[in-house]
Amino acid sequence: MKKNFLNLGKQPIANSFLSSISKKSLKNEYFYRLIMCFDTENFLVSVKNPVNPKIQYTDKYAHRASESLTMLKAFKSAAKKLQKRFKPRKVMEIGSNDGVFLKNFPKKKVIAVEPCKNLANLTKKKFKTYPSFWNKKLSNKISKKHSKVDLIFSSNTISHIPNLKETFESINNILSDRGVLVIEDPSLSSVLKINSYDQFYDEHVYVFSALSISNIVKNYQLKLFDVEKISNHGGSLRYFITKKKNSFKITSRLNKIINEEKRQGLNNFATFKKFAKKVEKSKQKLVALLTTLKKKNKKIISYGATYKSTTVFNYCKIDNKFFHYVTDTTKNKQGKFTPGMHIPILSPEKGFNESVDYAYLGAWNFKKEIMNKEKDYLKRGGRFITHVPRVKIIK
Ligand code: TYD
Repeated sequence: MKKNFLNLGKQPIANSFLSSISKKSLKNEYFYRLIMCFDTENFLVSVKNPVNPKIQYTDKYAHRASESLTMLKAFKSAAKKLQKRFKPRKVMEIGSNDGVFLKNFPKKKVIAVEPCKNLANLTKKKFKTYPSFWNKKLSNKISKKHSKVDLIFSSNTISHIPNLKETFESINNILSDRGVLVIEDPSLSSVLKINSYDQFYDEHVYVFSALSISNIVKNYQLKLFDVEKISNHGGSLRYFITKKKNSFKITSRLNKIINEEKRQGLNNFATFKKFAKKVEKSKQKLVALLTTLKKKNKKIISYGATYKSTTVFNYCKIDNKFFHYVTDTTKNKQGKFTPGMHIPILSPEKGFNESVDYAYLGAWNFKKEIMNKEKDYLKRGGRFITHVPRVKIIK
């Protein structure tokens, strides 16, 4: 049974940065109610009413995985490790973005699947790219044209697809007998531990745990045999899944992580009700801190126009009365306005200057990289604000 535990209010599509804030474009802005629920049978956390993927993943999709040095390195190292462990003859990625992972494999071996046309266009010259959503039709098409796939990789994508049945059946259809499906997604355990409730937004239809993934894949003749903790996006899990009949042994680290999750209560609805109270308190503290700083006439901006901050801004009702603007290195976010709260986005060159007193870390998942990069800002007295793992000022 699905039970609601958190209501994050009226939210826009996290990636729908507005080109203009004219009356007409504001009238067309899409909103939905973001309610999170917990399935008491398979322990899956999900968005209650998922948004139609056709309005989420368009040819204007803003996220570029290669924008961050951290992610460039993370994908390179993942590719190297997976190549060594599984020696795949054919590799396919579902949600290949700008090719940041696949470019680490020989061109001839790879197949890219990416529904956002602007991103698919970036990889199609380099390797075989299918500019489509992952579904049964595409899986059948690929299976007719190519040999079966030994390694299917999907980072921050499977959790975005509402229809898990079709997703996993279509994967099983194309996976070779010794093949492995490797999924990476933000970990539910970390979300609860570090209070990153901003991992809840329309695209993250699901926030997985080892507990829920192991329950779900069983329904599709697959099995979870290993899991690895990775630091991406504030704490993610890398799941290793294969066909049920395969002889891959269940690893001790999988058992260990499952036990940790049970101890944390990720199989218990009461844990999530408690978390919801913590989220409400975090909101009150953040708004109180920003209000105090504004009263002192401090200039506050936000650093990194992340999808995650769409949740925070709209839930906490933070608009440009609090933040002068948001800075972001991504060219196609600059000059636009944040979804729902309509705060202008500038390039760091224009906006991250001497006049800034405080910068809210929208991209808290790159805290280390940002602290390194912005040493001079900190030295001259500039401060960061974060809500992860609790609302505080970083000196
Ligand atoms: P991302 O990690 O993809 O978060 P989300 O999935 O919530 O959108 O986004 C990070 C954003 O932060 C991205 O737009 C690039 C931006 N960014 C900066 O502006 N400066 C930086 O130094 C870094 C590391 C990222």
